[in-house]
Amino acid sequence: QANPLILGIESSCDETGVGLVRGTELLANTVSSSMEEHVRFGGVIPEIASRAHLDAFVPTLEQALADAGVDLDDVDAIAVTSGPGLAGALMVGVSAAKALALATGKPLYAINHLVAHVGVGLLEESIAPASHAEALPEDLGALLVSGGHTEILRVRSIAQDVELLGATIDDAAGEAFDKVARLLGLAYPGGPAIDKLARDGNARAIRFPRGLTVPKYMGTVDAPGPHRYDFSFSGLKTAVARCVEGYEARGETVPVADVAASFQEAVLDVITAKAVLACLENGITTLLLGGGVAANSRLRELARERTAADGITLLVPKLSLCTDNGAMVAALGAQLVMKGVAPSDLAFAPDSSMP
Ligand code: KG4
Ligand code: ZN
Repeated sequence: QANPLILGIESSCDETGVGLVRGTELLANTVSSSMEEHVRFGGVIPEIASRAHLDAFVPTLEQALADAGVDLDDVDAIAVTSGPGLAGALMVGVSAAKALALATGKPLYAINHLVAHVGVGLLEESIAPASHAEALPEDLGALLVSGGHTEILRVRSIAQDVELLGATIDDAAGEAFDKVARLLGLAYPGGPAIDKLARDGNARAIRFPRGLTVPKYMGTVDAPGPHRYDFSFSGLKTAVARCVEGYEARGETVPVADVAASFQEAVLDVITAKAVLACLENGITTLLLGGGVAANSRLRELARERTAADGITLLVPKLSLCTDNGAMVAALGAQLVMKGVAPSDLAFAPDSSMP
């Protein structure tokens, strides 16, 4: 079917997202976040997130339909994130989507959240310059970095051939930003706070460890075999804690801006170098950036420098489409419908650890 109208539903973490897409055209992208309710806990509390989805779903759906100027009856298919993510949070979105599908008789598509982060790049308004967005190339690399995931994917076909090249073996990159921000006395979520503070710091002031690499020099990693494209940030987090304790034990003021900048550089050095390495070694010439950490100004700069140096085209979707949202789910759903993929059986269950 050409240009199907797809309703996309996202509830894997703290964002309740409903998006509407017609083919590759974005019609609406409504997001309600429960972030503020988690701030005092310094991290997302699953139970609170689930309840917030329940409260937010209907108003978010109604707002998205109003923004797009369409009726539920006009929709050709419904797409919903079925994993990975928080189990209880996923259940709210999946239950809502099944209820809508049953009530309206529309086909339902279960969507992998990570693949949807890539699929959003297909929307016409996703990536500037617009010429890039007409279609993603057939063989595409994706670097997905957020509070819940840190992965390098190889996407040969968004509908059926997505391969995981590497992933974190402990904390996600965004999680490391949040934990280090807490150590430095910054507010949650820590990513934006560290990004801002780091601009006043010296990224070379402290040499923090680069997990799962054999460092040669800045910008080059030689990674050990089995974890060549994988990441580890827990050792880095501990190194920052020891460093801060050291200043305190000596009665010195902690140079927070330098610590923030040096920590940030350690994370971004590894993720950009490994993403480029994965592209080069697999003959991939286009890399797409996704997830909340893609908002990081230094990441954008470093990714741009390093991909350019190796002749790789970098695609960075606009920020509102990089963070979790329903439009990315709808965008991938539209691809599945246009490629003639059969809808999901309504009996599917959400899978919090979906590969
Ligand atoms: O994709 P997202 O909105 O939600 C999920 O985790 O799925 O990503 C949120 C994460 C948080 O860990 C937050 O600290 C991080 O993205 N983040 C950033 C920046 N903005 C958000 N990390 C580094 N620099 C930023 N500017
Ligand atoms: Zn995400």
